[in-house]
Amino acid sequence: MKLLIIGGTGKTGRKLIEQGLSQGHEITAVVRKPGKLKIDDPNLRIVKGDVLKLESIESYFNGQDAVLSALGHKRFFIKTTILSRGTENIINAMRNNRVNRFICITSLGINDSRFKLGLYYTLFTIPVILFFYFLDKSKQEQLIMESNLDWTIVRPGQLTNRKKRTTYNHGLKVGHYILTKMISRASVAHFMLKNLQTSAYLRKAVGITN
Ligand SMILES: NC(=O)c1ccc[n+]([C@@H]2O[C@H](COP(=O)([O-])OP(=O)(O)OC[C@H]3O[C@@H](n4cnc5c(N)ncnc54)[C@H](OP(=O)(O)O)[C@@H]3O)[C@@H](O)[C@H]2O)c1
Repeated sequence: MKLLIIGGTGKTGRKLIEQGLSQGHEITAVVRKPGKLKIDDPNLRIVKGDVLKLESIESYFNGQDAVLSALGHKRFFIKTTILSRGTENIINAMRNNRVNRFICITSLGINDSRFKLGLYYTLFTIPVILFFYFLDKSKQEQLIMESNLDWTIVRPGQLTNRKKRTTYNHGLKVGHYILTKMISRASVAHFMLKNLQTSAYLRKAVGITN
């Protein structure tokens, strides 16, 4: 398939690119700093774009079969709209180019998975550190759900850099109210790519943990 990947210079996005290439996909990675992505492969096209500027990304969506997003940032503690504005631009670019399949990472703890990232996140990390970030993520999910795209929202537990597993828990009820469940970025990438082949979670927000 022809895949457009957002966030390819990030820790999960890089796994998406590596695994996607090894599965034979043709990948366009839209990144802010092309020099940061040191992967050389004939099936990888690295292009410069900022999701906050629709005109800088829109043309790359032409002819793609699906879009995978691992967009994220580290601007905690302050009010932010990066994820929602960026995702709104992705949705508009998809619409304008008639690309329908969208798989996007958000997080457990958002919207109807509230409290499912465990007690520590519920009582401390989310209200104290990630308050604005999660508010923006929640708006991001809302925009995706309101789009008429073929979307799947992937909500991971706490991310780790451990190696890829091909078996893990996924489903609409995944997560835990007391414990913080984890999942490796490599496994999340595996799950996102697997969802290209199935409609099991079409227009659904699915949790994933070990
Ligand atoms: N950490 C956790 O435990 C956890 C748990 C659940 C969910 N998540 C979510 O999982 C997602 C992936 O996490 P991660 O750790 O892999 O993220 P990450 O390493 O921080 O990567 C984020 C990616 O987004 C890109 N990006 C940011 N702003 C952009 C813009 N304006 N235009 C284009 N690209 C932009 C970054 O590009 P640059 O390289 O240019 O900055 C980077 O490639 C995030 O949404 C995160 O919130 C994290």
